[in-house]
Amino acid sequence: MVDQNTFISTNDEQQAAEFVRSQAALRGVSAEFKTAVILGSGLGAAGDRAEDLGGIVVRYDQIPHLPCPAVDGHAGRLILGTGELSGTLLLQGRVHLYEGHSLERATFAVRVLQQLGVRNLLVTNAAGGINDVFRVGDLMLLNGHWTFLNVNQPAGVTRRVPSTKLWCDRLRHVARSVESPLSVHEGVYAMMQGPNYETPAEVQMLKSLGVDAVGMSTVPESLAASAAGMKVLGVSCITNLASGLSDQPLNHAEVSRVAAKVETDFVEWLFDVLSRLPV
Ligand code: HPA
Repeated sequence: MVDQNTFISTNDEQQAAEFVRSQAALRGVSAEFKTAVILGSGLGAAGDRAEDLGGIVVRYDQIPHLPCPAVDGHAGRLILGTGELSGTLLLQGRVHLYEGHSLERATFAVRVLQQLGVRNLLVTNAAGGINDVFRVGDLMLLNGHWTFLNVNQPAGVTRRVPSTKLWCDRLRHVARSVESPLSVHEGVYAMMQGPNYETPAEVQMLKSLGVDAVGMSTVPESLAASAAGMKVLGVSCITNLASGLSDQPLNHAEVSRVAAKVETDFVEWLFDVLSRLPV
């Protein structure tokens, strides 16, 4: 059995990146990658759409050393964009700390992206809305975060990133400029460890701290990306109101159901954002 917490050397990341480059070469697509998108719970439709548009699919389990997601709604596929999406990598699914992965493994993919030359990283997630104004199906662009976990030092991080610089104002500004039927807010995200959802009491605590939405991911990858010099845009899809704030059932199936309902608008919004990113 693989030790989930084995330290991963940069050699592993280089091998993984080399494999992705070789797949690009084999399929005749450019291996100049500028932007990547990590697609969270139920938000993988953007990867399917990129595939429909001619994108090249590489399964995570083909890529040396890349940890594979085990949670429903995380397909474990990397799509190399073509045509208008040329230079973009879409990652369908992530591994979470709550699956027992170390911080090193949860951020491994980001270091592979770094090896591939990616400069902009969009990190998406499904989240529970806490801000009273948020409705199910809205988007929230992260302008701050809270975490109670010790996630600040993923492997390979040699410089400390001021958290004021973590969420890129410029990318957020670009994302705000896109018209969409979805309501797009900004706010503070709290990462909880999971895998259980929060208690209503915890949600009240988060609310009193000024948190707008809560989830179980995104912060480790974003810290690793920022430390690697990438610009980071965090996007939450509000798939439910957080625990205790509504009578709706709160479970992974419901989260996936809501994500599927907004997928068409979400994909359009995302592709529009991608088309406007600075080169
Ligand atoms: N809490 C934590 N993670 C989540 C939630 C939530 O309410 N919804 C989707 N992911």
